[in-house]
Amino acid sequence: MDTTIIAPIAYLISAILFVSGIKKLSSPATARSGNVRASLAMLLAIVVTLLEHEILDWTTVAGAIIAGAVIGGILARYIQMTAMPQLVAVFNGFGGGASAAVAAAEFVRLSGTGAALGAGSGVTIVLGTLIGAVTLSGSLIAFGKLQGVVTGNPVTFPLQKPLNALLFLAIVVAGAGLASDTILQGLGLGGAEAGTWLFMALVGGALLLGVLLVIPIGGADMPVVVSLLNSYSGLAAAATGFVLGNMILIIAGALVGAAGLILTQLMCKAMNRSLGNVAFGAFGTEGQVARVKTGERPVRDVDAEQAAMVLAYANSVAVVPGYGLAVAQAQHELKKVCDLLEERGVTVRFGVHPVAGRMPGHMNVLLAEADVSYDKLLDLDDINAEFDSTDVVLIVGANDVVNPAARDPDSVIAGMPILDVDRARNVIVMKRSLSPGFAGIDNDLFYMEHTMMFFGDAKDQMSELVKEVREA
Ligand code: TAP
Repeated sequence: MDTTIIAPIAYLISAILFVSGIKKLSSPATARSGNVRASLAMLLAIVVTLLEHEILDWTTVAGAIIAGAVIGGILARYIQMTAMPQLVAVFNGFGGGASAAVAAAEFVRLSGTGAALGAGSGVTIVLGTLIGAVTLSGSLIAFGKLQGVVTGNPVTFPLQKPLNALLFLAIVVAGAGLASDTILQGLGLGGAEAGTWLFMALVGGALLLGVLLVIPIGGADMPVVVSLLNSYSGLAAAATGFVLGNMILIIAGALVGAAGLILTQLMCKAMNRSLGNVAFGAFGTEGQVARVKTGERPVRDVDAEQAAMVLAYANSVAVVPGYGLAVAQAQHELKKVCDLLEERGVTVRFGVHPVAGRMPGHMNVLLAEADVSYDKLLDLDDINAEFDSTDVVLIVGANDVVNPAARDPDSVIAGMPILDVDRARNVIVMKRSLSPGFAGIDNDLFYMEHTMMFFGDAKDQMSELVKEVREA
């Protein structure tokens, strides 16, 4: 088989499949087929790469593919939806680690020939190793924070930022020394052995930098960090693509890099925070997120029967899901309530805030699991335009995304786009207590005259509501 002709064509097809696969991820309705398409692109890329190059040991390659497929398959099958951010964190870390390992192998191979690395190979090897190692250790810390193995509190210490900057500078100097013989001589280092030591120092420094960059960030901000690290893993893969001269690795890496960066920006925008504030703001430290005293004002609380009456006799209901829905796994019960309301002629819509929950698309995934039709999901702007004419808003386990404090310039969530639920005629808030959400602030909505607090665990209360709406 003449792979010189077939390989570029196959790579092009693979690239087209990657791009169109990512495009399909933009809607929940097409996301599954987008995933299948991108998986096919990856399979094609792997097969062509294996055919194009002389493979020294097929059994090792086959063993690695089988082991990877089995581990990936089992994880994807059994992982809880709420644990998805940490799974993605681990996958990003492995991606970065793999890129660093390939770049390191190329360094070992080239330095074994005794020839100088040269600027071209040197820069790409250094970048692949550096970004890959930062991604690996940073992702493992992100995983630890999300899983509760590492403290979720921001870990800060004096002179942290200058020390990080100094470490980064040292890594850049080491990298420049590896990429340029002149700099290596200038550093007073020469010969293959010095190069090897410098390379090991670069790897160690990059791993340490990954840890130091992620520990000052609070656990709840980890999804943003994971998205950023995802972007890094793409950049590391692209750099490794240059090292190996592999076109599809460059394309796929660049796509992941760009997609991760765009997602990071979108998440920051929806929280009205800058990336700098997420990365260096140590959000979640004592004092900064004041744990407010809630419940010092009177609220109107209702039981399942009263809530059912208000819902069943409405013309239009807007449901706002939040993090608590995911924690309680109450999506199926919620769907039953909505089906019963629709049977009674009530119009039911869902208002999905872009950062409701703890990961991008969290609510979309939950509602899709419960077979809620996509055309009933309205995004922030569309549902906000409808609240004035909505009879009842049913909030299930959401807090910050409906907090009117975002309109107060002095609030910690000032300027965050929110769902304007307080403009509806009646509001039912379903949560266990008056406790604050992720931002740690009280919510004036709970104390408003037209708000009814429906306290309890979302799953238990939704089951109660199913019974009561049926009987209403
Ligand atoms: P939150 O503001 O975090 O509020 C969730 C509420 O759910 C809590 O107040 C809690 O109140 C309630 N809850 C917890 N377990 C429950 C259960 N079993 N049954 C019923 N209620 C339960 O959630 P949100 O409104 O979805 O906002 C998301 C927040 O996370 C935003 O501040 C956002 O910026 C942040 N964030 C989001 C992301 C992404 S990408 N989505 C990433 C990082 C940060 P009780 O304890 O009283 O029940």
